[in-house]
Amino acid sequence: MCGIFGYIGKGKNVPQLVLAGLKSLEYRGYDSWGIASLDKQGRIRIKKKTGKIGENNVETLPDNGMALGHTRWATHGGVTVANAHPHLDCSGKITVIHNGIIENYLELKKPLIKKGHIFRSETDTEVAVHLIEDILADHKKNSVKTVKEDFAESVRLAFKKMSGLNAIIVMEAGSQVFVAAKNGSPLTIGRGTVQNEENLLASDAHAILPFTRDLYFMEDDEVVTVGRKEITVRKLADGTKKQIKFQQVNWQIREEVKGKFTHFMLKEIYDQIKVLQSVASADKVELSKLAALIAKSYGTYMIGCGTAAYACLAGTYIFSKIAKKHVNFSIASEFGYLLDFLTKQSLVIGLSQSGETIDLLDSLKKAKEKGATIVALVNVLGSSLYRLSDHKLLLQAGSEKAVVSTKAFTAKLAYLMMLAYILAGKAELGKNYLLKAVQAVEAILKSDFQQKIINLAQKLASRQHIYLIGRGISYPIALESALKIKEASYIHAEGFAGGELKHGVIALIEKNTPCIGFLPNDESYNDTLSGLMEMKSRGGMIIGVSFRHHEIFDEYLPVSDCGIASAIPNAVAGQLLGYYLTVQKGVDPDKPRNLAKSVTVK
Ligand code: AGP
Ligand code: GLU
Repeated sequence: MCGIFGYIGKGKNVPQLVLAGLKSLEYRGYDSWGIASLDKQGRIRIKKKTGKIGENNVETLPDNGMALGHTRWATHGGVTVANAHPHLDCSGKITVIHNGIIENYLELKKPLIKKGHIFRSETDTEVAVHLIEDILADHKKNSVKTVKEDFAESVRLAFKKMSGLNAIIVMEAGSQVFVAAKNGSPLTIGRGTVQNEENLLASDAHAILPFTRDLYFMEDDEVVTVGRKEITVRKLADGTKKQIKFQQVNWQIREEVKGKFTHFMLKEIYDQIKVLQSVASADKVELSKLAALIAKSYGTYMIGCGTAAYACLAGTYIFSKIAKKHVNFSIASEFGYLLDFLTKQSLVIGLSQSGETIDLLDSLKKAKEKGATIVALVNVLGSSLYRLSDHKLLLQAGSEKAVVSTKAFTAKLAYLMMLAYILAGKAELGKNYLLKAVQAVEAILKSDFQQKIINLAQKLASRQHIYLIGRGISYPIALESALKIKEASYIHAEGFAGGELKHGVIALIEKNTPCIGFLPNDESYNDTLSGLMEMKSRGGMIIGVSFRHHEIFDEYLPVSDCGIASAIPNAVAGQLLGYYLTVQKGVDPDKPRNLAKSVTVK
């Protein structure tokens, strides 16, 4: 689920320019990176490194107007320089960068090894470059075509043999063009100015926007040849040319800075005040259109991954409680296996910060094939999800940089609440609750509350396990808070529906095991309290997140009552605990190990 970027043209210092492009794609993977560039003699030179790009430069690479680069999130093969992309063929004349998984790579690799190809990495990707080399060699034997045409045709034939969801960009020393192909993974082409004779390719349009707003979003099963003055798209199936239309996009992208904050995660926790305020006063016309779609559908399903999945689960409680409407939930990666019941009357709402999560996109495409209407609740304008949906609602949370998601979660909750209140004909009430939630979040962000969390984090940082419980809407909040703790601080944290404790989980509670309970002022209060009592009876250290203190709490985090919207400040309390645990452990919450901001492989 890497970022891929290619540039050809008259730009100054092309390798450095590709490095800057890669930096903007690093959210897609940051375990290693690499750039390949052509020298004056038309030879390929490569620089690869493990770790984040950081302050690295590529001054040692030649600058001859053509380079491509990759930031990796390893799927096949460890995080090593040898496994980092770009990968070279045996002759050193072809190089490839790849996003995705070549599912049949072993099958393709065996005959290539038999033919004498030498593999230098453990990746699935390297198979692609040797396969292209092999097909190209065959082609050249009796070809009457140009080098460029042979090269393009070899990439097409090789890509056709690869199964899985993939995108590749390939460079061949003698051809002066990139050839790229895609199926599943995103790839966008940017048409630069004629004076600069420049064209670009990237996994994400945002990396291209500093150069041009003239874009073509490649469709699946297309192959493209991109040179200084040429962009030719062909069908993967038979190589016939396709007429394509470029779009002029006017998206305004604001680059966020950390400012006074040590990490983006903390900044984004603070951003929530403004984001929630803006949702409370969001355009009700747009929301009403979406509410009407939910009202008339025969079955509405909310799907998402990770944090977005927990927002969907919270949504089921929100719609049931506020609008008396059953809205279903599924983890997006599972939805593809259970959507056989969808009809043309079904509505599927995809929730996502990035709009690039492949598990979500893949399930939505399947739902679309069944005729369902697709709605996006998405933060990134122009993302794949944004483009594939029939209706879209932008979260407008501003760019979220930290891998550990915060403001996108509460923005999703806030929009779901507003939608449910509109559906119930009580928009004003929804707005009032949201504004109360804003006040509660402001109180949490005051220094005395934060000091409490810092003290608690100091006590918990050395623990191996933390358990969190909640009931009703607090159940997804317990799950989400556990995820914040896990992914940022690497402490094992597990969220449970409070009632499930006695069905097995309670066996895990020992003397001093930290047990966090979310107890808002709703009908779940007494039941969750009973659960905490049961944990305390087994020696648990009880941490209550609640609108009022209770004597069984060993630690108390006060969160004021704002009705169903209490879920929002409760989630913020969980985020802050995750953040300060991270700080205690010395982990970078903006880029924790093994993760990526946008998960673009299955
Ligand atoms: C949570 O903090 C994230 N690391 C992760 O779970 C994320 O929410 C998930 O990958 C979905 O991403 P999306 O919202 O961009 O689709
Ligand atoms: N499967 C390839 C690898 O592990 C590409 C992964 C990616 O998309 O980053 O190198």
